[in-house]
Order: sequence, then C-alpha cells, then structure tokens
Amino acid sequence: MPTPLTVTILAAGLGTRMKSRQAKVLHRAGGKPLIEHVVETALALAPPERVFVVVGHRADDVRHALEGRGVQFLEQTEQKGTGHAVMVGRDALADLGGQLMILYGDCPLLRIETLRRLIATADAAPAESAGALLSARMDDPTGYGRVIRDQAGYACAVVEQKAGTPQQLALREANMGIYCLRADLFWNHVAELRTDNPAGEYYLTDMVGILYRAGHPVHAMEIADAREALGINTRLELAEVDAIFRQRKRQGLMLAGVTIESPASVAIDVDVRIGIDTVIEPCARILGRTVIGEDCRIGAGAVIRDCELGNGVEIRPYSVMEQSRLDEGAEVGPFGRLRPGAHMEAHSHIGNFVELKNTRLGPGSKANHLAYLGDSQIGARVNVGAGTITCNYDGFRKHPTRIGDGAFVGSNSTLVAPLEVGDGAYIGAGSVITDPVPADALVLGRARQVIKEDWARKRRALGKARTP
Ligand code: UD1
Ligand code: CA
Repeated sequence: MPTPLTVTILAAGLGTRMKSRQAKVLHRAGGKPLIEHVVETALALAPPERVFVVVGHRADDVRHALEGRGVQFLEQTEQKGTGHAVMVGRDALADLGGQLMILYGDCPLLRIETLRRLIATADAAPAESAGALLSARMDDPTGYGRVIRDQAGYACAVVEQKAGTPQQLALREANMGIYCLRADLFWNHVAELRTDNPAGEYYLTDMVGILYRAGHPVHAMEIADAREALGINTRLELAEVDAIFRQRKRQGLMLAGVTIESPASVAIDVDVRIGIDTVIEPCARILGRTVIGEDCRIGAGAVIRDCELGNGVEIRPYSVMEQSRLDEGAEVGPFGRLRPGAHMEAHSHIGNFVELKNTRLGPGSKANHLAYLGDSQIGARVNVGAGTITCNYDGFRKHPTRIGDGAFVGSNSTLVAPLEVGDGAYIGAGSVITDPVPADALVLGRARQVIKEDWARKRRALGKARTP
C-alpha cells in the first residue's frame, strides 16, 4: 500500500517583488493563473480532500480562482514566512499522517513525473530519513536557498540568500521549495522553527537542518532541467516562465502532428487542443479552452479564444473570435469577427469585416462583406449581401431576427428586429425592412427611383451664367 499523500500549496505571500495589486499566484503564465497550474499538478497526485492551499494575501481572489476544484483552504492571516504558512495548517493536517508534500504556488513549471520521482525517492529512503526535497544546479542561483550537503550527500541545511555566507552563496545547488516529508516527523519538530534570521520570518527551509540534527536526514533529489525549478518573484521571471510554457505547448503539438510556421511567433495556451494536419500561420494566438479539429488552417495574426472548431475550418488572417462554434468546413475572414454565441454551421462563410454576435449562420450560408448580424437565426444557403445590418437594439432591449432557408438579402439591407423573413424570400438591395416577409416574396423597402431628364445640364448652364 502506498503511503497516503497530503499536498500543501503555499500561496499566501504578498509577492512584493511583483509590484502588483494582484496576488502573485494569480498572475498568468501559459494562459492561466500560476496557482491553477500548481493545483492541477497536486490533483494528479492526491484527491481534492487532501490538497490544501494556504491563502492569505488577497485570499478571496485566490479562493475564487480555484472554485469548483474541490480543494481545501487554510488561512494564514499574517504572512510570517513559509514555515509559518505550513504551521497554520497544524489542526487540519497533523492527523492525516503519511507523507506531507509542500509545493510553492509561485513555482508552476514543475512536472507531475518529477514529483512522482520525488515521492518514490522519499518512499525508498532509509527508515530514519525524513524524506526528500528537490534541488537543481543553476548557473545563477541568486535569490534561491542553497542546499548544503554533508559528506554522505544528505542535505544537512538550506541557507537562504539573505542569510548565507559568501562561501555558501557560491554553491550552485538551489532549493526548489518542493518537499516530500514524513508528516509525523515534520509535525513533531515544526515548533523548533525560529525567526532569528535577517528577514525575521519562520523559514520552512530551516526544517531541513532541524530534522537532520534530530537524526532524520533529508535526501536532496537533483533534477536535470533547472528550468523546471523556476520560481516567479518578478515580472521578468513571469515572462520567462510564460515563454517556457508556450514553447513546451508548441513542441508537444508539433510532435503530435500540427504544423506551426514561425513557432516562436505563435502563442497557444496550455489547455488548447488541436487536431492533426492543422496548419498554424505566424503570429496566431490560440487561447483559453479552444478546441480545433483536424485539417484546419489558422491564418496569420488570428486571435481565437474559447472557441470550438470542427475539421477543415479555415480562419483567414487577422480574424478575431471568442466563445464561438464553427462546424466542419466553415470559413472566416480575412478580418472576420465572431463575438460570444456565434455559431457557424458546416461550410458557411463570413468574409471581410463581417461581425456575428449570438447568431447562428446555417449550413452553406454566406455573408461575404461588411455586415453585422446580431441575435439572429439564419437558415441554410442564405446569401447575406454586403453591408447588411440587423438592427437588434431599440435603445432598451435586444430583439431577434429570423431568416429562412434559401433567402436572399440584397446588399445594404437594414433589417429592423424583431423580424421574420420567410424561406426563399428576396429582399431588394438598400431596403429598410420592418415587417415580416412571407416565404418566396420579393420585398422592397426603399424610395422608388426618380429620373429628371436634362436636370444636370440645365443646372450647369445656370451656374455658368451666374459666375462673374
Ligand atoms: C523560497 C525558499 C527558497 C527557495 C525558493 C524557491 C524559503 C524560506 N525559501 O524562497 O529556499 O529557493 O523559495 O522558489 O522557503 N508564502 C506564504 N506565506 C508566507 C510567505 C510565503 O504562503 O508567509 C508563499 C508565497 O506565496 C510563495 C511561496 O510561499 O508562493 C514562496 O515564498 P517566497 O517569498 O516567494 O519565497 P522565496 O524567497 O522565493
Ligand atoms: Ca519565490
């Protein structure tokens, strides 16, 4: 039987070095808050009732961001250091036994496999051992705690940047802030933490020395890729971590059959899914929970957030869309705009400067140039002419428009909602339509053309006579 694991994630800190009003762990990398990455990693290892997030600074915002995940919260009302942050959980955690894993909310790049190895290392350690911590050799470990090892290779202390001697600070093995410890030993000794350090804080890292002196050494498990260890303290590190998430994502997609042109210019959020043989052109941004099918093309500079695209969809350059659905073979743009609730059915098209909002465009229907279609249900094989506008708002309320299958809407039509246009009806160009249009009718809502013969010639002659 594997030892039960409890995960505690520290996320109460102020994040002073971010120079922000927002909690540090709510800043985003790879398209989502740092804390979400860490919580998802934790949930891969332990059930939600054994995952505890320590909140303090902007606690409500952090709780809100994690709503629905089922994880537990502990409150650290005063931020007195990483050691203190774990101590506040004593009542909730001390009786859970097993192993206690501690993760830092500002260290989101950590891979699940790495943590599994840490757990295995802690499990395999000799009986008197307290467990294991993660370390990484860094070219420049400035800012990180340094791992001090004894002759047998055990970590006998972690020394913080602010407290280290020049000799200690010259060591390049950095503490990642990730531990897997025997819960009983941790809780038996945690009261020995002191604040006699330059920051006047309870340093969690001091537990390594405390446990060592009590005869329970901690194994330092060094990982090969130091980048996984990147903790975010400043916005420079935030940008660095974001870039790593995005690079990982692009590499994963390319290896899984997606073509990405000029990959470094393309941003894809970590939760996006994309099918094989889809081609992504330079500078596209594919965000949120977007799902893209196979054989699609995403044009240069397109911005796609929280959309669902079927197979063979083509998004031409500089189109912008959110919370919309596009079925097989739909085509958009260039410069198409889909606002929330747009649904383009199979093989429908919208062209340059066409905007859809809360509108269904039926299969094979087209609106190829300069149109606004809002709160509309548009049937199959409808042709919407250039410049067509649905007037869906009367200054107080929104109203629906319905256009039946096979209808033809002439260019520059103004459709005043609420409005019904029957199947197969024709709307003459330039019409203002305010009343229902029966199926198969022709409707004209514009002034009849008037011709005044010779008017222009007479007018010119008159003008000349008057000029001095
Ligand atoms: C910490 C480690 C350092 C390690 C580095 C790795 C300590 C004392 N130092 O330093 O050895 O190399 O992480 O990234 O642990 N937090 C709380 N309550 C507090 C203070 C902090 O919840 O009272 C949380 C923060 O929100 C943050 C995490 O703990 O998520 C780490 O705190 P931070 O101040 O960033 O520690 P570092 O100085 O980076
Ligand atoms: Ca940190």
